[in-house]
Amino acid sequence: MALSVRKAVLPVAGLGTRFLPATKAMPKEMLTVVDRPLIQYAVEECLAAGVEEFVFVTGRNKGALEDHFDTAYELEATLHERGKNHELKLTQQATIKAGNAIFTRQQQPLGLGHAIWCARDWVGREPFAVLLPDELTIDSPSCTGQLVAAHERTGGNVVAVMEVPREQTKSYGIAAVKDEKDSLAEVTGLVEKPNPEESPSTLAIIGRYILQPEVFDHLDRHEKGAGGEIQLTDAMAKMVGHCPFHALRYRGLRYDCGSRIGFLEANVAVALHRADTTGETRALLERVLKA
Ligand code: G1P
Repeated sequence: MALSVRKAVLPVAGLGTRFLPATKAMPKEMLTVVDRPLIQYAVEECLAAGVEEFVFVTGRNKGALEDHFDTAYELEATLHERGKNHELKLTQQATIKAGNAIFTRQQQPLGLGHAIWCARDWVGREPFAVLLPDELTIDSPSCTGQLVAAHERTGGNVVAVMEVPREQTKSYGIAAVKDEKDSLAEVTGLVEKPNPEESPSTLAIIGRYILQPEVFDHLDRHEKGAGGEIQLTDAMAKMVGHCPFHALRYRGLRYDCGSRIGFLEANVAVALHRADTTGETRALLERVLKA
């Protein structure tokens, strides 16, 4: 039986240049979708999947992320005094259990593979999840929950994929697969950001992974790939054929919050999706569209 997945690595060192000036003094992962920061969606997705230990790979000016998941004693005491129990509960829910989060820095922007490699000693020799918090996924069970369930059956590496238009392959890691059954297919190859005409398929990796610790052995070599960066996809590609490796076709909601329009879409879509905001959001959109 496959070892259970207990840890998640969340790479959050990026500068967020696409969101300047909003991200001048604030991490992009603290940008809010409806009422919680992007990073909280990723953490909640893990917790829902039974993954409870976190390695945040951060950079300079990312202190707000650490504060967000800490106890906010003064705020909580004030909310308690004022009888604001709902708000108190929301605040307390945004914490991570004592001792379950590590914050380590990626000191140079050498690529996603390098960011994950920075977590190697905290992860150790066990399978782990990776979530790119720019990608917001909403489903039940969560995308990571689906990967964990698949991993329990297959072991090895499992990545979530979605079909994208061929002209977009240049923005993603792309998986070549065979023998798809019940949304799970065997991975036969991986390429980072191929040109549309050379892409082996249109199945894009959407920033959700379950990986075996052997990936660190490949990342150790610090080989550069697409864009001159150390790519996670290249290290994973070296594992194809050497361990079970599957792609899970994700069918839930997914928003690319790394782009301004994707982020805006996420806000509107999540507000429409949530029972407590759907009615008001519908009315608001009608109003705005009529104006
Ligand atoms: C990264 C990964 C890529 C993946 C993508 C998903 O690329 O390298 O394989 O498909 O995230 O968002 P980035 O968007 O950081 O360039």
